[in-house]
Amino acid sequence: MKLCMIGTGYVGLVSGVCFSEIGNDVICVDRDIKKVENLKKGIIPIYEPGLEEIVLKNYRNKRLKFSTNLKDSILKSDIIFICVGTPTKKKSNGADLTQIYNVAKEIRSFITKFKIIITKSTVPVTTGDEIEKIISQKVSKKLFSVVSNPEFLREGEAIRDFTYPDRVIIGTNNKKSNRILKNLYLPLISKGAKYLNTPRRAAELIKYASNAFLATKITFINELANLCEKIDVNVEDISIGMGLDKRIGGRFLRAGPAFGGSCFPKDTKAIVKTADKFKTSLSVINSVIKSNENRSSLLLKRVFDILKNRVNNKKICFLGVTFKANTDDMRDSSSLSMIPSLIKRGAKVNYFDPTGEKDDFKKLKNVRFSSTINSAIKESDLIIIHTEWNDFKSIDFRKEVNKKNFAIFDMRNIYSPTKMKKLKIKYISVGS
Ligand SMILES: NC(=O)c1ccc[n+]([C@@H]2O[C@H](COP(=O)([O-])OP(=O)(O)OC[C@H]3O[C@@H](n4cnc5c(N)ncnc54)[C@H](O)[C@@H]3O)[C@@H](O)[C@H]2O)c1
Repeated sequence: MKLCMIGTGYVGLVSGVCFSEIGNDVICVDRDIKKVENLKKGIIPIYEPGLEEIVLKNYRNKRLKFSTNLKDSILKSDIIFICVGTPTKKKSNGADLTQIYNVAKEIRSFITKFKIIITKSTVPVTTGDEIEKIISQKVSKKLFSVVSNPEFLREGEAIRDFTYPDRVIIGTNNKKSNRILKNLYLPLISKGAKYLNTPRRAAELIKYASNAFLATKITFINELANLCEKIDVNVEDISIGMGLDKRIGGRFLRAGPAFGGSCFPKDTKAIVKTADKFKTSLSVINSVIKSNENRSSLLLKRVFDILKNRVNNKKICFLGVTFKANTDDMRDSSSLSMIPSLIKRGAKVNYFDPTGEKDDFKKLKNVRFSSTINSAIKESDLIIIHTEWNDFKSIDFRKEVNKKNFAIFDMRNIYSPTKMKKLKIKYISVGS
C-alpha cells in the first residue's frame, strides 16, 4: 500500500519504517528540513534500539522515502497518517491541537481521489469530528474518511511494540476504510495482534484511558512505597505479591521517580480537561496528576535527609537523566526539576547518560556531563540511580568511587540492599 506519515518524530518515524519493513511504500514527511536531510544521509534523529538498521535497509530498498514536500507526498499516497505532536497547551491542561488542525488544513487542497486520513497522534475525543469538518469545507466527503488509529508503542521498545502489538485499534464506521486497514495490519494480526474496530470517538478515548490507567498504576505503587518506608516493609515484595494476581499484573507496578516522558504527563492532563469540557469529573486521574507532581519534591526531601541537609558543595552524581531507559527523550523527565533544585542548594552535579549530553543542562552552572560511568561517579558523595539502564546494573562502586563514605540513592531499586550492606555501602532504595 502507499502510505504517507506526516510528522517524522518518535511515532511517525518508527511506524513509517515498520510499515515499509512489512512491504508498503512509505513517504515520511516532516516540516523540519534538517531532520529530513539528515534522514536521507542515514542520520537518525532519535535514539531507539534497532531503528537505524531498518531505516537504512528500507531506504536502500526504496520502500522508504523522506520528504518535506507535503503536496507531492499526499498525491502519491492512499493512506495518510497524522503523527504530529499534541503537547499540553501553555496556558491550560488541554492538548494543543494546532499542529493537527494545521495538517488538516494543509492536506485538504491535495485530496483529488479517495484517501484514508488517520490520526496516529494521541488526540482528545471528538478531534476526528473536527478534522472531518475542516477537510469537508474543501473536499467532498466521498473522497476521504477520517479514522482514529492510536499508537501504543513505548520508546525504547518501539520496534518490537509496533511489530508485535497487543492490539490494533481502528476507530471508524466506514466499512471500506476498515477493510483496507485490516489488510494493512494483516502481517501483525497474523503474528497474534488482536484487531478491534470501534467507533472513532471510542478509539480516541481508548488511548487516553489506557495511558491514564498505566499512570495510575505507577502512582499507586509510588504512594505505597511512601508507606513502606515508614513501616519497614520493602515495596518490592508488595509489587511482586500484587503482580502475581493475574487481574492486577506486575507491569507498571514498580516504585520509582515521578512518571515522565512525552505521553503520561500530558495525556493524564488532557483527559481530565476533556472530562471538564463534558462536565464530568475524573477525580482518580486528577489525584494521580497531583500525586505525581508531588513525587519529585518527596524524593528530593529524601536526598536532603540522606545528606543530613548539608547539600552545599556536595558532589552528587546522576546516573541517567532521561525519563526511562533506552531512550534519549528528556520530555517531562523528573531529572529536569531535581537537578536544578539540588544546584540551588549548592550541590555540584555530575551526570552520565548513555544517550549523551543534554541541552537542558548545558546552561546550568555546576552541572557537568561525564562521558563514562566511572568518571561520573569517581568523586561522588552521593550517587543517584535515576534511570534503569542495563549499564548501571553491575557497577563495582567500592572499586570505582574514590571516597570511603559515599552513599547511593537507588531510585530504581536495581541493587540488593543485603549485598550493599555486606559491602558496607550506605544504600537507600525507594520504598524500603
Ligand atoms: N513518543 C511516544 O512514545 C508516543 C507513543 C504513542 C503516541 N504518541 C503520540 O504521537 C504523537 C507524536 O508524538 P512524537 O513523540 O512522535 O512527537 P515528535 O515531537 O517526536 O514528532 C512530531 C513531528 O511532527 C513534525 N511536524 C509538526 N507539524 C508538522 C507539519 N505540519 N508537517 C510535517 N511535519 C510536522 C515535527 O517537526 C516533528 O518532527 C503525539 O500525539 C504523541 O502523544 C507518542
